[in-house]
Amino acid sequence: MQTPPPPQPAATAGAAKTTTIYILATALFSLLFILSLSSSSTSSSPSSPPPLDPYLFPDKQPQSNPNHRHRLLIRNQRNTTNNLSEPPPPSPPSLAYLISGSNRDSGRILRLLFSVYHPRNHYLLHLDLPASQSDRDFLALTVRSIPVFRAAQNVNVIGKADFAYPKGSSGLSSTLHGASILLRISGNWDWFINLSASDYPLVTQDDLLHILSYLPKDLNFVNHSSYIGWRESRKLKPIIVDPGLYLSERTAMFYATQKRELPDAFRLFMGSSSSVLSREVIEFCILGTDNLPRTLLMYLSNTPSSASVYFPTLLCNSQQFNKTIMNHGLQYASFDTRQEARPLKSKDFHDFIQSGAAFASPFLADDPVLDRIDREILRRIPGKLVPGGWCLGESKNNTCDVWGDADILRPGRGARRLEKLLVKLLSNGTFRSHQCVVE
Ligand SMILES: *[C@@H]1O[C@H](CO)[C@@H](O)[C@H](O)[C@H]1NC(C)=O
Ligand SMILES: *[C@@H]1O[C@H](CO)[C@@H](O)[C@H](O)[C@H]1NC(C)=O
Ligand SMILES: *[C@@H]1O[C@H](CO)[C@@H](O)[C@H](O)[C@H]1NC(C)=O
Ligand SMILES: *[C@@H]1O[C@H](CO)[C@@H](O)[C@H](O)[C@H]1NC(C)=O
Ligand SMILES: *[C@@H]1O[C@H](CO)[C@@H](O)[C@H](O)[C@H]1NC(C)=O
Ligand SMILES: *[C@@H]1O[C@H](CO)[C@@H](O)[C@H](O)[C@H]1NC(C)=O
Ligand SMILES: *[C@@H]1O[C@H](CO)[C@@H](O)[C@H](O)[C@H]1NC(C)=O
Repeated sequence: MQTPPPPQPAATAGAAKTTTIYILATALFSLLFILSLSSSSTSSSPSSPPPLDPYLFPDKQPQSNPNHRHRLLIRNQRNTTNNLSEPPPPSPPSLAYLISGSNRDSGRILRLLFSVYHPRNHYLLHLDLPASQSDRDFLALTVRSIPVFRAAQNVNVIGKADFAYPKGSSGLSSTLHGASILLRISGNWDWFINLSASDYPLVTQDDLLHILSYLPKDLNFVNHSSYIGWRESRKLKPIIVDPGLYLSERTAMFYATQKRELPDAFRLFMGSSSSVLSREVIEFCILGTDNLPRTLLMYLSNTPSSASVYFPTLLCNSQQFNKTIMNHGLQYASFDTRQEARPLKSKDFHDFIQSGAAFASPFLADDPVLDRIDREILRRIPGKLVPGGWCLGESKNNTCDVWGDADILRPGRGARRLEKLLVKLLSNGTFRSHQCVVE
């Protein structure tokens, strides 16, 4: 006779205890990993990673797992909520986030990380070269001190920084560097999202993962337009040399006196640098045998604003991907008269929430509107992680200190807003008629 499974609170208290053991076991590994990232690309990752936390990932445990009673418990719980006569919801996807910042951004990066955290995802944090090594160390130490990050083994810090010039091509190179590390860290994420320290989420990760679980995994979300007026020409025709690519000190961008013609071997598309890209696209750029990604990179190395041109142009000029692109980066921005995104304030709250976007940008550091988003939208307590279905703690301020199955999502109103936006974008042929349109 089997003893009946203990009630839920007892099981989760046990979870908290066992995790401390896992923490000890994984601490060394995370240290090794940070070091291996920092010490040039010749390093190889350790041959056998430690087992994943059994409470977060009950389905990914080896067969001979002594914790299988807990697994049964989670299963049973799950089919009381899911009616057996209905099809189960699709299993949630996994996202790979690259979060970049510069000098004195480590606090903002951590805040953003806490507000977009989910154990299913992967996070790579990058403080660029102008930031001090002590900032980078602080970031790595803080990340290492958070139990769930160690249990899920999904937050890494780039130890050897890149130089990323905001307007030059070194930013693009740094993004591709991050994407390639993420490809190597994990074979199971589905979308790549590039965030800067000035971005902030408008939905919880449960909302986002829930909605994305219903979409085909080859879909890409990238603002793009082939319209090139005088303003765009001014961005595309100058020839620059980005010092971030070859000098180790920050110096001014070098502009050539001549301008050049627009290319005719491919069609240029411009967009915003925020996007949600499928894993397939990232593999195409980094591992693919088609030469378009490299040709474009070399062309763009001397173009200002290359980050906002690369992915739109790549996707629209590729037969493989031009039908997978949705003309919206899922990010809200508001533009001033000079077509520059202006900082978002409290007065914009209603607009950006109603837009249904998943992220908004840019925000000033510690702007009060971020506290409002935390309070009203993410229900996040300052200094804590955004709560989700995996958080089982009982008191409000430690809800994510006790955890359970990361596959269980509790989407809220944010999911409905995002769904509305996607339905609008996908309806009536809006999707096709806005895709890679040549103007
Ligand atoms: C859960 O599913 C299993 C097998 O599908 C079934 O035997 C069991 O009765 C279900 N449990 C509950 C509580 O519905
Ligand atoms: C499960 O589905 C059956 C038949 O469709 C229905 O009668 C029952 O009320 C449902 N139960 C729950 C908990 O949704
Ligand atoms: C992206 O495109 C949408 C729809 O065309 C627009 O509303 C939004 O402002 C654009 N976002 C950015 C960041 O350019
Ligand atoms: C990724 O985000 C960083 C930080 O905002 C930005 O500098 C870079 O241009 C972005 N890269 C791409 C390819 O969009
Ligand atoms: C995609 O590429 C193919 C082949 O180049 C072309 O026929 C098709 O019109 C393109 N589709 C879009 C939406 O641009
Ligand atoms: C949680 O909040 C309560 C009051 O809101 C406080 O008494 C308690 O010390 C807090 N616990 C932790 C772990 O911060
Ligand atoms: C879709 O078509 C219907 C009827 O033709 C129209 O009322 C609706 O506004 C359209 N929606 C969009 C997003 O274009």
